[in-house]
Amino acid sequence: MVDKNRKATLTIDGRSWDLPMRSPTVGPDVIDIRKLYGEADVFTYDPGFTSTASCASTITYIDGDAGELLYRGYPIEQLAERSHFLEVCFLLLYGDLPNAAQLEDFENRVTRHTMLHEQIQYFFRGFRRDAHPMATMVGVVGAMSAFYHDSTDINDPWQREVAAIRMIAKLPTIAAWAYKYSIGQPFVYPRNDLDYASNFLRMCFAVPTEEYEVNPVLSRAMDRIMTLHADHEQNASTSTVRLAGSSGANPFACVAAGIACLWGPAHGGANQACLEMLREIGSVGRIPEFIRRAKDKDDPFRLMGFGHRVYKNFDPRAKVMKQSADEVLGLLGVENNPLLQVAKELERIALEDAYFIDKKLYPNVDFYSGIILEAMGFPTAMFTPIFAVSRTVGWISQWKEMIADKDQKIGRPRQLYVGAPRRDYREVEDRS
Ligand code: CMC
Repeated sequence: MVDKNRKATLTIDGRSWDLPMRSPTVGPDVIDIRKLYGEADVFTYDPGFTSTASCASTITYIDGDAGELLYRGYPIEQLAERSHFLEVCFLLLYGDLPNAAQLEDFENRVTRHTMLHEQIQYFFRGFRRDAHPMATMVGVVGAMSAFYHDSTDINDPWQREVAAIRMIAKLPTIAAWAYKYSIGQPFVYPRNDLDYASNFLRMCFAVPTEEYEVNPVLSRAMDRIMTLHADHEQNASTSTVRLAGSSGANPFACVAAGIACLWGPAHGGANQACLEMLREIGSVGRIPEFIRRAKDKDDPFRLMGFGHRVYKNFDPRAKVMKQSADEVLGLLGVENNPLLQVAKELERIALEDAYFIDKKLYPNVDFYSGIILEAMGFPTAMFTPIFAVSRTVGWISQWKEMIADKDQKIGRPRQLYVGAPRRDYREVEDRS
């Protein structure tokens, strides 16, 4: 909302411009610089968008200093404890918690879209068996626009809705099949009598030769992982989805772009990188060596699972995840798992170390999620696909919000050009 009583004044070489101020519901005020270039002929410079709000949004709020995360106003801890993933999906997509009838209707709609077009199988079979499941997912999700033509018209609200439901419903099937394909096992079809998380676990771990019973503690832990990863305001992959969508691209293509961005080790790939790091450290005795490397400016090594662009306090998701890790490992009887011992000791040392304290580097969500997923039996390559399954609802909610936002234009940043000024072409024989 524009605050008519306040303005920011920018002065350059003695000339001043008044810039409108916008007030959020909570959080820092925002200076509206949209007219700056037109009026003052200057750009602002902000690589990595550290001080730039790219949109107005009503979906997720993070207070990084307080370590607070709200979905539509509800604290993540309450949702992780008392809600479940599909209810959280409804909340993110439509703005409020559903009543009983709305929830039943939503769960039915999602459940009845979990099957993939049968021909999509041939798409999977075109990939090498040793492809990373994220590579398969980028391809298959991108290809969904070639299968579901009747939900690619972004100007039709009904088609937008169908695309949203299709993606939330089908991403677990796609991720599970990417895994099954990579290990040479038959694809397991979804089952409508199972809840979302149980269905996903079954599609990953069942085989046709025997009955598979979903363990409710593992299913609850998976549901929590999904809830904790469901949205995180304008992070890199969500901003990628919005940027791709700003050109009018169809939602399947936009979510494929989001998956590609999520793959990077500084973002969703961190859970895989974190577990690989814990394995490399191997024992509590080697932790000081790795802490030393993390602090060394000349060593590119970073403690994976530590630090966050927005959280300068404990990531609230990490607290819930840590509790889940204890529950799952307890259930599986592997509390003495050496990786967990390394993780706990690493956390303790890092939280007492001046380098990490001064830079406000706390464990993030990925620090514990990998340990839980590994204990459940997932290979590290599946960690980021599970993040992608969970974040799909966030991407699609943000994409829908953007399409409905009258202030949104095609995303087109400007630049600080530092290349050569104009120069004339020279024939090859005239060049030194
Ligand atoms: N280990 C050691 N030093 C670190 C770390 C780390 N994990 N993270 C940041 N620093 C240092 C960094 O070297 C820099 O030091 P200096 O000021 O002396 O140059 C300072 O802390 C600030 O770091 P930055 O890279 O400028 O901060 P950023 O906001 O650009 O990066 C980050 C955030 C998450 C990319 C980064 O902390 C990192 O690479 N962490 C490890 C990867 C990771 O766990 N990512 C998962 C993020 S949570 C899941 C998600 O949302 O995707």
